[in-house]
Amino acid sequence: METIRIFCPATIANISCGFDVLGVALDAVGDEMVIRKTVAKGIFITKLEGQELPMETSKNVAGVAGLAFLDASDYEGGFEIEIYKKIKAGSGIGSSAASSTGAVWGMNELLGRPFSTLELIRFAMEGERLASGVAHADNVAPALFGGFTLVRSYDPLDIVPIPSPEELFATVIHPQIEVKTSDSRKILKTKITLKDGIKQWGNLGGLVAGLYTKDYDLIGRSLEDHIVEPIRSILIPGFDQVKSSAIASGALGCGISGSGPSIFALSKGESKAKSVGKAMKKVYKNIGIDYEIHVSKINIEGVRRIN
Ligand code: HSE
Repeated sequence: METIRIFCPATIANISCGFDVLGVALDAVGDEMVIRKTVAKGIFITKLEGQELPMETSKNVAGVAGLAFLDASDYEGGFEIEIYKKIKAGSGIGSSAASSTGAVWGMNELLGRPFSTLELIRFAMEGERLASGVAHADNVAPALFGGFTLVRSYDPLDIVPIPSPEELFATVIHPQIEVKTSDSRKILKTKITLKDGIKQWGNLGGLVAGLYTKDYDLIGRSLEDHIVEPIRSILIPGFDQVKSSAIASGALGCGISGSGPSIFALSKGESKAKSVGKAMKKVYKNIGIDYEIHVSKINIEGVRRIN
């Protein structure tokens, strides 16, 4: 195989109680990429449509992740990459992770899968380091594995895929402003109180247990964030109103998607997820903020081939 065309899913990181450790892949939104083997060694970004982003290899997340892959590989050639962005940069649904993940997954397919998924995550994390200053894995892991994933440990890297209850749907609304992950990380406190820690790891355990046992009420009760949301929500216009409208219209829970400004809600069933979306939209219509909205089932496959 010389060329591959792929779909790289958007992802929701953190999922309220799992800052930097939990993430989930979406189905309704994602980028497309074409990756082609070249005789010349190196990573060459030959096309980038949909967003204004750097095409220079060392400044592009797909380029940097690709270089990490190439450095670890004994392959003598290189790769050309075309990127068709559908996920807006700075939207909070894993735009950089989709590009980094797509690059390394596609290259691995073209070379006959020399690397494991865990190794690919390490390469893709280099793209995240470029984008946000920190090599977090909570977007790239679900983009690669699909479904929900838990980063049990960063050192050594230990990723646990978690089953997704079939009726779980996500609604994501993106108020049309850009928040850079690097900026929204700078405002966070580096210390937490024991009291907040207890609440947070109780919810994290509850969410994981709820996903395993398909206990939708437990999932809903666990979607709380006592550490990051109170700080970051200040950057998101109308956050409290959107959240309370989503809950009032039947969402299991609602919070900031990744580093924002997108806001996600999880619901049982697609029709509920759509009515939650209507309620969220209404808030932004009333306060005059443009938005984009996605209602999506959970993508249990992750990045995939589409040609
Ligand atoms: N866990 C990361 C953060 C995700 O919240 O900063 C960024 O998409």
